Amino acid sequence: MIEKRQFYINGAWVDPAEANDFHVIDPSTEEPCAVISLGGKADTDAAVAAAKAALPGWMATPPAERIALVEKLLKIYADRAEDLAQATATEMGAPIDFARQSQVPSGTWHLTNFLKAAKDFKFERPLNDHTPNDRIIYEAVGVAALITPWNWPQNQITLKVGAAAIAGCTMVLKPSEQSPINAMIFAECMDAAGFPKGVFNLVNGDGPGVGTQLSGHPDVDMVSFTGSTRAGIAISKNAADTLKKVHLELGGKGANLIFADADDKAVKRGVLHMMNNTGQSCNAPSRMMVQAPIYDQAVEIAREVAEGVKVGSAHEPGRHIGPVVNELQWTKIQNLIQTGIDEGARLVAGGVGRPEGLNKGFYVRPTVFADVTPDMTIAREEIFGPVLSIMKFETEEEGLAMANDTVYGLTNYVQTQDGARANRLARRLRSGMVEMNGKSRSAGSPFGGMKQSGNGREGGTWGIEDFLEVKAVSGWTPE
Ligand code: NAI
Ligand code: MG
Repeated sequence: MIEKRQFYINGAWVDPAEANDFHVIDPSTEEPCAVISLGGKADTDAAVAAAKAALPGWMATPPAERIALVEKLLKIYADRAEDLAQATATEMGAPIDFARQSQVPSGTWHLTNFLKAAKDFKFERPLNDHTPNDRIIYEAVGVAALITPWNWPQNQITLKVGAAAIAGCTMVLKPSEQSPINAMIFAECMDAAGFPKGVFNLVNGDGPGVGTQLSGHPDVDMVSFTGSTRAGIAISKNAADTLKKVHLELGGKGANLIFADADDKAVKRGVLHMMNNTGQSCNAPSRMMVQAPIYDQAVEIAREVAEGVKVGSAHEPGRHIGPVVNELQWTKIQNLIQTGIDEGARLVAGGVGRPEGLNKGFYVRPTVFADVTPDMTIAREEIFGPVLSIMKFETEEEGLAMANDTVYGLTNYVQTQDGARANRLARRLRSGMVEMNGKSRSAGSPFGGMKQSGNGREGGTWGIEDFLEVKAVSGWTPE
C-alpha cells in the first residue's frame, strides 16, 4: 500500500503537525490503496505563510520566466503520465486506458493552452491608442487557495495551478481527499520543475478541516473551487468575512436538445457522452430532450446503446466504464434511480443494484429513464452517475423553456441540421457553454457556468485573467 503522509510546503516535503491518517479507497475493489494525512490548522497556516512570503518575489518575476517554468512543468508532467494515470485509475476508478487517453492528457491540454495564451498576453498595456499616460497593469490577485474535486483531478489541478502560476499568484492546493495521490505526483512535478519555494504548496485535508481553514484564512486572497454546489455555498459564506475573490465551478444538469432533423448519430453520441467517466462530469448531457416525431425511436436507440456499455474494474484495459468514486456517491445514485422509478419515470435500461457479475466495487448499471417530466427529481438534481433522463418536447420554444428550467447553467447541447435554429438556441440557452452537433470547443475556449453552476471561467486567456487584478494608472510616463 502507498504511504504518502507528507505535505509539500515551502519547497519541501514535511510531516503533518499532528498525525491524522486517512485511508484512500480503491473504488474498483473497495480496499484501501493508500494512506495519507488529513492536515489541520497548523499545516494550513504553514502553507499559507509560505505562499504569502513567496508572493512579492513571484509577482516581480518577469512573466517570461514564470512561463518558462510552466513549460518545464509540462515536460515533466508528460514524463510522469503513466504514474499519474495509474494513481487516477486506482483512487477514483477511471479505467486505466481512459485515464491514459483522457484524464491525464486533459492536463497536458490545459497547460499547453495556457502557454499559448500567455505568450500573447499583455500584462501591461495602454488604455487605448490615444492615452499614452494611462496604463493598465494586470497584477496577481495574491495568495490563491485551490480546492479541487476527484472526478477529473488532473484537469482541475492544471486548470488552476497553470493559470495561477502564469498570473504570478502563489498558491496552496488542497486536492480532494478521495483522490490525493495523483495530486501529490503533480506536486513532485512542480518540485522537479524548480518553482521557487513557497510558490506552490500542497496540504491534504477534508472540507470541514483544511478546506474551511483555507476559505476563511485572512492571508488567502482568492479561492478557486471546483466541486459541489453545497461546498461552493459554504466556501462563499466563509470567504465573505474577509471578502475574498471566490471563483466557483459547480454542478450542472445539461440539456441535450435533439430535434427531429438531428444527424443520425446524435442520440448515440448523447448517451455515450452521458456515460463517459461513469457520468461523473459537471458538463454531462444528463437531460436528453427529444422532439416528438423521433422520440420513440430515440428511446429505443438509447436503450440499445446503454445496454452495450460495459462496466468493469479500472485496472483492466479496454473501453468500459469504471465504478463511481466511493460508497457515498454509489448510495446517492442508487437512491436517485429508485426515486426515478417511484416518481413514475419509465426505466428502459439499467436500474438499481450492481451490474451482473460485479459483487464488490462501487459499480452502477448504465441507466436510462424515458418519459421524464420537468418536475421529477431526476430531471432536477445532478445525479453524477451513468444515469440518463429522456424527456419529450414538441416545439423549439418548449424545448428551450425546458432546457432553461433548472438552477444550473453550465453546458447545454443542441442537435439539429438547421444552422439558423442552432444559432438562435445558442444565443438563448442560459449556460456558460453551448456545444452543438457534437463539435467540441477548441483550444483556449473558456470553461465555466452561469446561475448555480458558478462564476468565472477556466482555461486559456480567460483562465489566466481570473487570477489577475486590473490596475488602472494615470500620469504614466511613456517608457
Ligand atoms: P465536494 O464538493 O464535497 O468535494 C470537492 C472538494 O471540495 C474536495 O476537495 C472537498 O474536500 C472540498 N470541500 C468539501 N466541503 C468543503 C467546504 N465546506 N469547504 C471547503 N472545501 C470543501 O464534492 P463531493 O461530496 O465529493 O461530491 C458531491 C457532489 O458534488 C457530486 O455528486 C456532484 O454532484 C458534485 N461534484 C461536482 C463536481 C464538478 O466538477 N463540478 C466535482 C465533484 C463533485
Ligand atoms: Mg477513492
